[in-house]
Amino acid sequence: MNCNIVTIPGDGIGPEIVREACKVLDKVGEVYGHTFTYTEVLMGGCSIDAYGVPLTDEALETARKSDAVLLGAVGGNVGNSRWYDVAPQLRPEAGLLAIRKGLNLFANIRPAYLYKELADACPLKKEIIGDGFDMVIMRELTGGLYFGERHTEEVDGVLQATDTLTYNENEIRRIAVKAFDIAMKRKKHVISVDKANVLDSSRLWRKVVEEVAKDYPEVTLEHMLVDNCAMQLVMNPGQFDVVLTENMFGDILSDEASMITGSIGMLSSASLNETRFGMYEPSHGSAPDIAGKDLANPIATVLSAAMMLRYSFDLDKEADAVEAAVQQVLTEGYRTADIWAEGCEKVGTAQMGRLIADRIR
Ligand code: IPM
Ligand code: MG
Repeated sequence: MNCNIVTIPGDGIGPEIVREACKVLDKVGEVYGHTFTYTEVLMGGCSIDAYGVPLTDEALETARKSDAVLLGAVGGNVGNSRWYDVAPQLRPEAGLLAIRKGLNLFANIRPAYLYKELADACPLKKEIIGDGFDMVIMRELTGGLYFGERHTEEVDGVLQATDTLTYNENEIRRIAVKAFDIAMKRKKHVISVDKANVLDSSRLWRKVVEEVAKDYPEVTLEHMLVDNCAMQLVMNPGQFDVVLTENMFGDILSDEASMITGSIGMLSSASLNETRFGMYEPSHGSAPDIAGKDLANPIATVLSAAMMLRYSFDLDKEADAVEAAVQQVLTEGYRTADIWAEGCEKVGTAQMGRLIADRIR
């Protein structure tokens, strides 16, 4: 198979972790007979430096024409005035939002899985961890507060800022369908998270999710209020299979879910539209403080590349091989600094990538 991948290394640790993911993909190509061709484009701060905008139309078009996009991370220290003393739509993160919207990537899948090797890095007590957890957060990615009308104005001499949270039933239905589809391949349990005790958008969310559930009689549906969900994640994480939620709640809950896996450096993600096309990126940020120091954990990006193999290229065997290689490296005791524990061997970004690539069978 020939796959045209657009890579967007981005800022901070982005280039280092994308490099390692490509190393692993190349090994997959070698072992399984596929060719991965990479075209690099700029997004985020590096694009601002080169072109004055966080995402050019050309970069977006190049991404659109590819088979899939592999993204590192964008953004930097807010103290970086070149990137942040400008209008919000010109900041690095605006590039990310623009590509999500521009490619209609409405379904963001963020798996949070506790490797038993990392149980010590999990900040929860042993009795709470129990047999571990394996959940998927299905976050709506192109609606809600992120894309609603917003403005700041002065009303009677007082500054006032407004953000709007809007969802229509079609936007809710298509993400709910994705969540139920994925639940069918898992433990057939969807927990839909909202704030229906306060928000109209959540009440519509609940209604539409219930309609969709009727087409999936095998799947159990539960509703959970977002504040309760935040609590349940650290009280009983094992109860979650598929968590379906809107954009902002998903942003917050996925950081929480990633941290209980031991490190935010482990959490991969896929952002999909209605076709097989997707953008794959770690759920963490650009970590400018450790950029270029060979300290970053590339596993989230490597696992994102595995999701790319699975969802965009239909290469399940190859995706399994990448996940198994990550598992093996952890079992053998190799750790980057963020997940290091006594008795383990500390390795840098590049060595971690090499160790995983070497274990692709
Ligand atoms: C994420 C990030 C982004 C988001 C930021 C960088 C705009 O936190 O992918 O979770 O809020 O979606
Ligand atoms: Mg986030």
